[in-house]
Amino acid sequence: MKDANFSKKILCIGAGYVGGPTMAVIAAKCPQYKVTVVDINAARIDAWNSDKLPIYEPGLLDVVKQARGRNLFFSTDVDEAIREAEIIFVSVNTPTKSFGEGAGKAADLQYWELTARNIVRVSQSDKIIIEKSTLPVRTAEAMSRILNANEKGIRFEVLSNPEFLAEGTAVADLENPDRVLIGSQLTAEGIKARDAVVEIYANWIPKERILTSNVWSSELSKLVANAFLAQRISSINSISALCEKTEANVSEVSRAIGMDSRIGNKFLSSSVGFGGSCFQKDILNLVYICQSWGLTEVADYWEQVISMNEYQKRRFVQNMVKVMFNTVAGKRIALFGFAFKADTGDTRESPAISVAKQLLEEHSKVVITDPQALDNAKIDLADYADKLEFIPDPYEAAKGAHAIAVMTEWKEYKTLDYKRIFSDMERPSFIFDGRNVLDHKALFDLGFNVFPLGQPFHKHF
Ligand code: UDX
Ligand code: UDX
Repeated sequence: MKDANFSKKILCIGAGYVGGPTMAVIAAKCPQYKVTVVDINAARIDAWNSDKLPIYEPGLLDVVKQARGRNLFFSTDVDEAIREAEIIFVSVNTPTKSFGEGAGKAADLQYWELTARNIVRVSQSDKIIIEKSTLPVRTAEAMSRILNANEKGIRFEVLSNPEFLAEGTAVADLENPDRVLIGSQLTAEGIKARDAVVEIYANWIPKERILTSNVWSSELSKLVANAFLAQRISSINSISALCEKTEANVSEVSRAIGMDSRIGNKFLSSSVGFGGSCFQKDILNLVYICQSWGLTEVADYWEQVISMNEYQKRRFVQNMVKVMFNTVAGKRIALFGFAFKADTGDTRESPAISVAKQLLEEHSKVVITDPQALDNAKIDLADYADKLEFIPDPYEAAKGAHAIAVMTEWKEYKTLDYKRIFSDMERPSFIFDGRNVLDHKALFDLGFNVFPLGQPFHKHF
């Protein structure tokens, strides 16, 4: 289709885990729009233009292929793309600030602001700018100031449209979201811009699931949604520690409380800890905002969710050391999985990073296996490269090991031939199931000493 025939021109700046899949789904669902995704990272853009996408996400390649070259384009020509777009989603990264005021908590907004200034510099017409990156409450206001301080007479309407997709299920989450949230100013221009964005999503999402609100509620809702989800995991993980002392079984507790329809049964799986790029960052951000408004008690309350997660990761390794006769020095330990959850190659804030580092401090020989995340694992642990092995085949990884620790709930780990694995391991052989996904009784019967999370141990001594 010729450019002039597209009914809208949409741009996304930032071709990461959020920008790439979101735009691919919009393009696939709306062939009448031209959708361009730009990024300053040329290697990433090349990958989006190939059959080996830069992120692993089930079903994503099919969606990309459906639209790429038709109405979906990946490019590094940021300026040209800004000039022609009417609607610009900004999905650049907003990591936790590592320097200056708010270091370790506040969001680092430098990429967002640079992007905003670049938009002002090259734009020649009015545009709708949409925050897709998670940002502190009232960032839209600051961005609106920067954008509208231009002397060209151009008007930028800033909206907030947070992304709620989870990695590993991104395509399904985008095709069939629980809700889409669009925050705007409640002025005539704000509502007009909001309606233009509602129209995009209404191509495939029922209208009643497209919520609108003021900008600040929308920005805050994203932080609060992630804080609540993470809080549930920390809550059940705190109970896993108690279960281990009392011989209660955390899975039974989860099932029992989850059947209360007021509580609900999702996000109640005890684990070695939550990871991912969002939970910790967004809670720290929430804590920082509360502190900066003098809401110390509120900040402390949410900070506990992170403390509990740190405790769970530490507790996991302390338990390994204790049951392996108080030393793991020189012992080969195979980490099964390194991704922060199954079905992704993403390792950002993965609990496996912390577990690997703690084991290295204990002088273990750590071997890491994962079906998708080994490249990222090598980057995360680059400082320890000479002390680690990365082995794609789990059978090879477990050879000669004293222990296996399951870090990621990959399906394939449930169906491995553990009899074969056991025969190649040192004695006594240990399995620490940091995701409670294996058949513990069957493993015990094969000869393993099995240590689940928050459940009775199965040991031969
Ligand atoms: C990002 C934010 O980190 C998160 O807060 C938000 O909720 C959604 O967007 P994600 O897509 O996972 O999440 O980030 P990442 O995979 O790091 O992608 C960001 C991309 O922006 C990178 O490819 C980076 O190269 C690009 N970028 C960054 C630009 O194109 N321009 C910049 O100035 C900075
Ligand atoms: C999360 C939110 O779910 C999503 O809405 C938001 O847009 C981004 O942040 P994501 O980080 O991709 O998505 O994955 P999620 O499925 O939420 O899992 C986060 C972490 O919690 C993972 O490490 C996962 O293993 C862990 N988890 C999840 C548990 O430990 N137990 C559970 O019951 C659920």
